[in-house]
Amino acid sequence: MKMHFLQLLLVPFITNTVTSLDSRKTIFQCDQHFDESQPEGIINFPSLPKQLAISHGINSSKPELRYNLQCVYTFVAGPRQRVILEFDHFLLSGSSENCDIEYIDIYSEIENVDEDILSSTLGGRYCGTVAPHVRISLRNVMKLVLHSRSTNHEENHGFSAKYSFIPGEKFISGASVSGQKCGYIIDSSVLKAGTVYSPTYPGTYPHNMHCSYLLKGYPEERIRLFFSDFDIFFGGEHCPYDSITIFDGDSPSAPIIRKVCGLQQRMEIYSMTNTLLIHFNTTQPAKSDPRGFIMDYEFSSRFVKIHKLLNGQKGVTHIRGTECDVRVESNRETTHTISSPNYPEVYPANTTCTYIIHGLQGEQNLENVILTFQSIAVLSFDTALATATPSADDIACPSAWVGIATSEGNMRAVMSSTDDSIFDVTLCERIPSGSPLLGPYVSEGPRMVMQFGSTDTRDDQISPIGFKATIEFRTDFGVTGDSLGTSNECRFRFNSSTGFFNSPRYPANYPLDTNCTYYIVAEPEKEILLHFEQFALSGDNRNCDDYLEVYDVFVENGEEKLRLKERYCSDTFPGPSVSAFGSHEMRIFFTSGSTGTANGFKALFEIRTARKEDVPSGEAHIRRGSYRCGSVINATTEKPNGLIISPNYPVKYNKDVHCDWKINAREGYQVLLKMEAIDVEGEMTTTSASCQKAVIRVEGAPKPEYCGTKREFFESFLSDSNTVRISFLTAPDKVNGLKGFNLSWTEVKNLSGKDESVCKSDTLYLCTYSKLCIDSKLRCNGLDNCGYLVQDDTDEQHSRVIIFFKNDFGFLLMGFPSSDWKISPHEELLNLVNGIKVCAFVSCCFLCALHIGSLKEKTGDRTVVLAAIFCGGIFVFICGFFLYLFKKKLERKKKSKRKSDTKHRLRQPYRQQKPMNRPHCDSQLSSPATSRFVHHDATGIMPPIQLHHIRNTPEEFYTN
Ligand SMILES: *[C@@H]1O[C@H](CO)[C@@H](O)[C@H](O)[C@H]1NC(C)=O
Ligand SMILES: *[C@@H]1O[C@H](CO)[C@@H](O)[C@H](O)[C@H]1NC(C)=O
Ligand SMILES: *[C@@H]1O[C@H](CO)[C@@H](O)[C@H](O)[C@H]1NC(C)=O
Ligand SMILES: *[C@@H]1O[C@H](CO)[C@@H](O)[C@H](O)[C@H]1NC(C)=O
Repeated sequence: MKMHFLQLLLVPFITNTVTSLDSRKTIFQCDQHFDESQPEGIINFPSLPKQLAISHGINSSKPELRYNLQCVYTFVAGPRQRVILEFDHFLLSGSSENCDIEYIDIYSEIENVDEDILSSTLGGRYCGTVAPHVRISLRNVMKLVLHSRSTNHEENHGFSAKYSFIPGEKFISGASVSGQKCGYIIDSSVLKAGTVYSPTYPGTYPHNMHCSYLLKGYPEERIRLFFSDFDIFFGGEHCPYDSITIFDGDSPSAPIIRKVCGLQQRMEIYSMTNTLLIHFNTTQPAKSDPRGFIMDYEFSSRFVKIHKLLNGQKGVTHIRGTECDVRVESNRETTHTISSPNYPEVYPANTTCTYIIHGLQGEQNLENVILTFQSIAVLSFDTALATATPSADDIACPSAWVGIATSEGNMRAVMSSTDDSIFDVTLCERIPSGSPLLGPYVSEGPRMVMQFGSTDTRDDQISPIGFKATIEFRTDFGVTGDSLGTSNECRFRFNSSTGFFNSPRYPANYPLDTNCTYYIVAEPEKEILLHFEQFALSGDNRNCDDYLEVYDVFVENGEEKLRLKERYCSDTFPGPSVSAFGSHEMRIFFTSGSTGTANGFKALFEIRTARKEDVPSGEAHIRRGSYRCGSVINATTEKPNGLIISPNYPVKYNKDVHCDWKINAREGYQVLLKMEAIDVEGEMTTTSASCQKAVIRVEGAPKPEYCGTKREFFESFLSDSNTVRISFLTAPDKVNGLKGFNLSWTEVKNLSGKDESVCKSDTLYLCTYSKLCIDSKLRCNGLDNCGYLVQDDTDEQHSRVIIFFKNDFGFLLMGFPSSDWKISPHEELLNLVNGIKVCAFVSCCFLCALHIGSLKEKTGDRTVVLAAIFCGGIFVFICGFFLYLFKKKLERKKKSKRKSDTKHRLRQPYRQQKPMNRPHCDSQLSSPATSRFVHHDATGIMPPIQLHHIRNTPEEFYTN
């Protein structure tokens, strides 16, 4: 100590505030000593430098004069006592970052009064405005050292603190372990219950300390710890600095129940067996004044017997550190049993057991929890007062309850606090078997939390008492509909009038190796309309690992017969479809392989009144805005060909259209189909088709579904037999509507590789290349009735001029005034060039005629000449007129194009078809249908098909 005093420079004050002039005495009076003669009191450091300065005439106007002061306060309590020091005023110079002008040092771990403070552990240095937290000495001595070089003369500068000596017994937590400063053994044979205070609680606990507490009970006992206060320096999530570690056994090799730090509220811990080891380790962390903990302990054999509760079941485990909390985990679609403690005997009072039930959850698995009670007899009300069985929403189960939390929020609340948990269902009393209150209760997700709690026991002397329940884990397919089969099979039945079904877990990826069956069942006299909202399966169209199959179900003699409609894989988006005529059930199979996964599909269905005929025999009817159309067409000698046209063509088709056509050729003939024009929503590639909104299906055709705007996928098709069936469907919602399609059919005999002489007759024509034998009436009808596999338009080839006209007059007949003219600028240019070519040709003819005329003039045949001139003139005039119109149109088009460029880019460019009208071919009159289309093209307005028209002359609209 003397060393410290040598450091003192006491130049400015030779005397102290009191009266003495003896400088030595002054020094010693700055130090203060307190012992049992003064067991409590107040120490003050009241602006000492200032008072000293004033009393010694030292002028505060000379601040360069410094004081350098050190005062030591020593507290010595009785042998079994501790010193407690509480600051109530604290205002020193400096700040916590920079304590060098003025500060106090606290030494609270001093072994005995003679110990040199230089060699003892510094418990903390304080300055500025933040007072030290309460201090309690580790033993019976504490020292406080004040250093000051401050010239602060403010009124309230300084500190004051209260000290007292308190009994130290409460810090003796049990039998001390020899050789350890802070090691205790707490034995149940000594005390069944007690309280442990951390060393120096509630004063700041010492740094770099290690305390251990070993609790030892009798074999059948378990130990309960309850921390009523807990404040340990928080150094991070895993408590790398200060911590309390609780081992579930008697050594640090036992499993750790918890390692904790920070602030904890009402922490409760139960041992699994009859021993517990607690380590309290502190370091020297950053400045903080944590106080430690108070821990109540209790040894008892009344705590729940875990082994009995778990009953040795796989997947049912005790949550370490709790009295009776249980985790039930699925081992994929397993079943488990849980019960109240001591079941079937009476459960203990003041017990809360939480059952946390986890189904599988992951990429491949998703499960639901199904909880079913076998019995509940949780007597909560006074048995004498018990009235009716409480209902599920009756939350008043005051002294014992079974609570079920299925919603995420309630589950979290139940797991985080046991005090004011809210359950989705609360049950108590004896519930009769067969009551719906016994369940089953199904979780929303893969988790469920159940709690059993009691604050009191009542025993009605009827066994069993408590509860017993079965927990079942069931795969959650995320599919609505009635589940069929066992809970783990993906089989669902639908019979509502509208609805949807989807791949398992849609819109999340579907699991691997899964088979699902969807039964869509309508009543007789109904039909099912199916269309898809989403479709994306893993794999490619060739391997088809994952697929969806759509079947029509027929019942014949009580026997079910399935007919495959179509199988879809990968990105082949299914088109709308309707159950087959005579079937009122659809079955859809979905299979996923083991290689990849994707979003899957979502399909919508609608059950409606069934159509009256498989293929309309003339009658068309509207049903809830939907179009039913089509017809049976019999080919005859008079009518060996015709057209099949989608409703409203070439204006927009509607949504919810269902057309069926059936073409019957005569015996020995086949039907040749040629797509003249197709403009249907959707897209086709060589490997797949996406005909979500509208689809054309041709029985026996190489591809099951056609749509899009590219004709090359369906140029021609020759039926195998003498009949062919075509259908066209559009989805019942959100259909944009494009032009539709125009399909020509021709009754043909295929003679390739056969005797061609069969076709040698005036009424027949043998196509040169395709070797199809067609009716000679079809020559020069404006349609290529020959082309099949090979390019063959020999039936239309008669003179170069006709071909020329056919190609070059196209532009004139494209429908100039049409308001919806969709040809590309390139094609426009081509048309213009063609137009000029034609005009040049006509002008040439005209000149030729003039020339011939002038020749003829000499022979005197003037009438021929005049006629030629007249004809030529008219032609040139018409030609000029059309060119003028064309120019106007082009200008208008350009203007509007600039306005709506983006809109147009989205549209499929119109593919210019060969004109259907060839007025010059053999000067034959065109067929009625083709002339109608010329007419429509010319006006650009085709009214929607009038229904009475269809009814009256149905064939006229769909055939020629
Ligand atoms: C606490 O400190 C003691 C002594 O340093 C050490 O043996 C023990 O393993 C520590 N306990 C923990 C849980 O870190
Ligand atoms: C249950 O706890 C209450 C309140 O804490 C207490 O009064 C009662 O005696 C306890 N019952 C038993 C059986 O320990
Ligand atoms: C799914 O069905 C296919 C064909 O019926 C069968 O081979 C496969 O084993 C089934 N997979 C599962 C997981 O049931
Ligand atoms: C077509 O022929 C079948 C029999 O061959 C006949 O029953 C049907 O009435 C005919 N349909 C038309 C529209 O002529």
